[in-house]
Amino acid sequence: MKNFILLLFIFCVATTSHSQPAAKDFHSYSNPQDVRVRHLDLDWDVSFDKKILQGAAVLTIDRLNKQAPLVLDTRHLNIDKVETSASGSNYAATKFSVGQADPILGAPLTIELPTNAKFVRITYSTNPDASGLQWLAPAQTAGKKQPFMFTQSQAIHARSWIPLQDTPQVRVTYTARVRTPPNLLAVMSAENEPDTPHDGDYSFRMPQAIPSYLIALAVGDLSFRPLGRRTGVYAEPSVVEKAASEFSDTEKMVEATEKLYGPYRWGRYDLLVLPPSFPYGGMENPRLTFATPTVLAGDKSLVALVAHELAHSWSGNLVTNATWRDFWLNEGFTVYLERRILEAVYGRSREEMEAALGLRDLRDDLARLEDRDEILHIDLTGRDPDDVSSDVPYEKGALFLRHLEQTFGRARFDRFLRSYFDHFAFQSITTDQFLDYLKTNLLNKDRSLAVQVPVDEWINKPGIPRNAPNPTSSAFSKVAEQAKRWMRGEIPASKIPVAGWTTQEWLHFLRSLPLLGDAAATQGNSGNSTGTAAGSTAAGSTAAESTTASPDRNGPNKSSEVVLDRKRMAELDQAFHLTQSGNSEIAFQWLMMSIRNRYEPAYPRLEEFLMSIGRRKFIKPLYEELAKTPEGRERALAIYRRARPTYHPISVAAIDEVLKWK
Ligand code: BES
Ligand code: ZN
Repeated sequence: MKNFILLLFIFCVATTSHSQPAAKDFHSYSNPQDVRVRHLDLDWDVSFDKKILQGAAVLTIDRLNKQAPLVLDTRHLNIDKVETSASGSNYAATKFSVGQADPILGAPLTIELPTNAKFVRITYSTNPDASGLQWLAPAQTAGKKQPFMFTQSQAIHARSWIPLQDTPQVRVTYTARVRTPPNLLAVMSAENEPDTPHDGDYSFRMPQAIPSYLIALAVGDLSFRPLGRRTGVYAEPSVVEKAASEFSDTEKMVEATEKLYGPYRWGRYDLLVLPPSFPYGGMENPRLTFATPTVLAGDKSLVALVAHELAHSWSGNLVTNATWRDFWLNEGFTVYLERRILEAVYGRSREEMEAALGLRDLRDDLARLEDRDEILHIDLTGRDPDDVSSDVPYEKGALFLRHLEQTFGRARFDRFLRSYFDHFAFQSITTDQFLDYLKTNLLNKDRSLAVQVPVDEWINKPGIPRNAPNPTSSAFSKVAEQAKRWMRGEIPASKIPVAGWTTQEWLHFLRSLPLLGDAAATQGNSGNSTGTAAGSTAAGSTAAESTTASPDRNGPNKSSEVVLDRKRMAELDQAFHLTQSGNSEIAFQWLMMSIRNRYEPAYPRLEEFLMSIGRRKFIKPLYEELAKTPEGRERALAIYRRARPTYHPISVAAIDEVLKWK
């Protein structure tokens, strides 16, 4: 018996140390512990008429358990046949079954594997309602002449267009052949040849192993402009010049990131500007970031998005969250890196403004979220990752890393992060793996510093630790001061010294004004943007960052009792033409205020905004704000009825929920 226990012990140690630790991924039916997919060979006809991809996926597999079948994730795919092969040349049909569909997960596809099967070929087509695809009519594009299609796989939509092991724990290389109408160009998250002939027959190779959520395809009337020696931008012809000048700092950003965190390991870094229905700001598809056109502000003021998606080339694409509950490892690290890139390229003051805006977003979210959603290592069992989006993994995650940086010093923390990326390169890891690495390589090396960072509280508790950093901006303090003077009636809007204000200062100005009628009103006045614990002013200080965050910084501020009525909204609008702002972030902020304060002159612009933009981060809060009153809800429904067919399935799902559509 003793020997048996000893043997069992040795067996367990041996198996866990050699295979990847199996973190349970609630969001996949697949069985990579038994059969692991290593490579995908994809082949599709892109049919704009039928709004489907039709073709085959050949999966190369590793058999770890020879008895086990292959279980894949699918969502609403039509599977025509499944064949297997030992050599990759002769295929024979095999038995397969599609299980019952779950509303969140889709359906498992279970495939019987003959003893020597090494390749599995699945002939299939997608469904026109695939959650990860959007098919755009020509009217929804900039050029208005050609159709457009694009994919969005993160978090669990790859399964709606490819039958695969849809868990970030499994990394695959891929090759693809894509046939399109002859005048259109296909691009993928793979090697793209900028000067490939536009002949409707495209081949791709992705030689680095990536998780399924990073597989991406777009097809449209696209042109290309180089930005630097290994950077460039794809967009529709009428957009590409504007995009190239907006993103002209991209090569500099790549260089700055390499200096901090080691070589860019993916060959080229290109951007693709999508039509405005793209449901996100950006998506870090390897070698080819997908981006919303709403960041084309004309003055590079919203390029934090490029820094962010580029940063994912280290945090996320190189070192990947093993499950969606470890999502903060992707996004928290990436927001931290994004701000370091902005600081390197545009200076500390810009970084401070972005960090202060981020903290404000986080506080607003913490004010509305349940405790369970304020936790970095969140429990997502039974939940759709799309339904749980908040700033917590992003901003709380970044604040945690900032706390480590401030505590251990920048030089030391930079060395730590760089070694972390090298150590886990091309692996998918859990929060526990990160914490082990953190303990061994940073915390345990200096216990007197380590005790200052409540790691367990950061990772497993709601809210923000009391001694969290409190990023502040001295430029913002001045802006908030002006906002107060105007609110108190000390100066008219036309006399506010706005010359030279950046987009970030405008956003802070608008957010410093009181919100009408809800709890957020008390947070509206961020006179505390100077960030000392008691909210007293440190505006004069250039080292505008105090070390601690005040627990009472969300406390009521007297001037928030002043209500921003329609007359005062009109005064701002006349002075600054906010309703007509061409900057999407400023317009969004202004429209939110306009709904709250019933500022009717902005309603046509609101409607136009909702009818032309599908970015979830903008439209969801606007519909939510509208839905707070019966008249607002009626207006929301009237707009949504017309806008819904133009939105992406991911945005549709979110707004259906907000408006309780059908
Ligand atoms: N990877 C995310 C987008 C994402 C997250 C898609 C989860 C699906 C599920 C991307 O890197 C991101 O965070 N985009 C942000 C922009 C960024 C500047 C914070 C967005 O789209 O708003
Ligand atoms: Zn991100």
